[in-house]
Amino acid sequence: MGVKRDTWRARCSKMPVMTQTPPESKSMDEIVALAKRRGYVFAASEIYGGINGFWDYGPLGIQLKNNIRDHWWKHMVECPPIGPDGQPLELLGLDSSIIQHPKTWEASGHVSGFNDPMVDCRFCKARFRADHLDEGEYTCLTKPSKMAGEFEKCDLTEPRSFNLMFETHVGAIRDEDAKAYLRPETAQGIFLNYKNVLDTMRVKLPFGVAQIGKAFRNEVTPRNFIFRSREFEQMEMEWFCHPDEAPQWYEFWKSARMDWWRSLGIAESNLRFRDHDPDELAHYSKMCVDIEYRYPFTTPNFGELEGIAHRGCFDLGQHQEHGSARMEYIDPTRNNDRYLPNVIEPASGLTRAVLVLLCEAFTPTPDRKGTKYMLSLLPRFAPIKSGIFPLVNKDGMPEIAQKIYLDLRTKFTCQLDVKQSIGKRYARMDEAGTPFCFTIDGDSLNDHSVTVRERDTQKQQRIAMAKIASFLDQKINASHI
Ligand code: GAP
Repeated sequence: MGVKRDTWRARCSKMPVMTQTPPESKSMDEIVALAKRRGYVFAASEIYGGINGFWDYGPLGIQLKNNIRDHWWKHMVECPPIGPDGQPLELLGLDSSIIQHPKTWEASGHVSGFNDPMVDCRFCKARFRADHLDEGEYTCLTKPSKMAGEFEKCDLTEPRSFNLMFETHVGAIRDEDAKAYLRPETAQGIFLNYKNVLDTMRVKLPFGVAQIGKAFRNEVTPRNFIFRSREFEQMEMEWFCHPDEAPQWYEFWKSARMDWWRSLGIAESNLRFRDHDPDELAHYSKMCVDIEYRYPFTTPNFGELEGIAHRGCFDLGQHQEHGSARMEYIDPTRNNDRYLPNVIEPASGLTRAVLVLLCEAFTPTPDRKGTKYMLSLLPRFAPIKSGIFPLVNKDGMPEIAQKIYLDLRTKFTCQLDVKQSIGKRYARMDEAGTPFCFTIDGDSLNDHSVTVRERDTQKQQRIAMAKIASFLDQKINASHI
């Protein structure tokens, strides 16, 4: 099977990118503050002092997350890439339960192997992942040495293994037999339903099953805002194929997934592939590559965004052994050969994608009045597509603005804002990432036109009121593939 370039890549090469600011001039503190100020991300349980590793997505955060989620679903399930034979790939969706039979996680290797090495500081009791400490050393900030202003290197406990799965109990009796787990990855729900999909959907190999949903990991050290949290969302797809074809499909999905990240408007220079070293590979994995992003907190280095793994037949084999179903595929195209399909898995974080778009879009605007920053999101991902402002809240302008708003809101998320100076309203929308603002002024009453201001350039032009919807449609769809 040869992997040909498809039209998807050609279309991607024309994709616009967001306004470019180098990651080293972006401050995470400022990004986190803006995310809170504009209703993107709040600390969970904030009024009780927060709970480490958990975050709430505010009114604009959920909208941004849904926009990314829908874009992934569209390109992985509803309109998947064109395959090497020139035909669209076969991909189906799934929404499996968060809690599955506990044997799932024994079979998958998570009960015995999903561990991180954990060490404690003997003095302040702080806990770390041993593999995150530089040469196993930690300087305890609460234990000053005798020299003023210095702190002591600390005694750390020996690394202990710490299982990352959250446990719970199912039913009224809380004993060992009732123990269950919150899923640490969405992938296993797909393997458990592989036979169901095969038997009900009249599919033939190769095909994929995709799922978006919550995953939970009791991370030892959640950190870097929403980068590593204890509750997060994943977008995962398991591609089932003949073992001989797995290496080519691995290459195919590597490039298709990189193209998808570029379609979010992320600059090429902030994305890269990183192959896993053999000693880094997860227990199930034969080959794995990460797609990495240059986060402000990793720059000049990169950090993980998505993993693409060749899982072989590990998972289907394990569930066949531990469960009651035969997972072999009887291949009508190969003389009814029986075999366990191999799996290529592109696995990414939806909440991590939110972080990447916030970081990528964050743009300091030192020359602007009223705001120091804007979010330069591509229009299609912006939570609010347009602001609608009467210049002053009188003289018939609010009524026209209200009419435009009522017309537009059925097609585009938009916000009607009648209060404060026009400059303050623009500034608020720049920070929220709203790409277009329409202002109704004195002339609008006579010539039925409005001023449209573009967020990134601040350029203004007059357009007819009757053309606002088609203007927005064209601008938003210009960044569609
Ligand atoms: N099924 C394979 C799997 O789960 P993974 O590399 O552990 O692989 C896939 O996770 C993706 O999920 C990661 O690339 C990352 O984007 C996201 N992810 C993993 N742990 C996360 C966490 N604690 N917080 C936020 N996102 C996380």
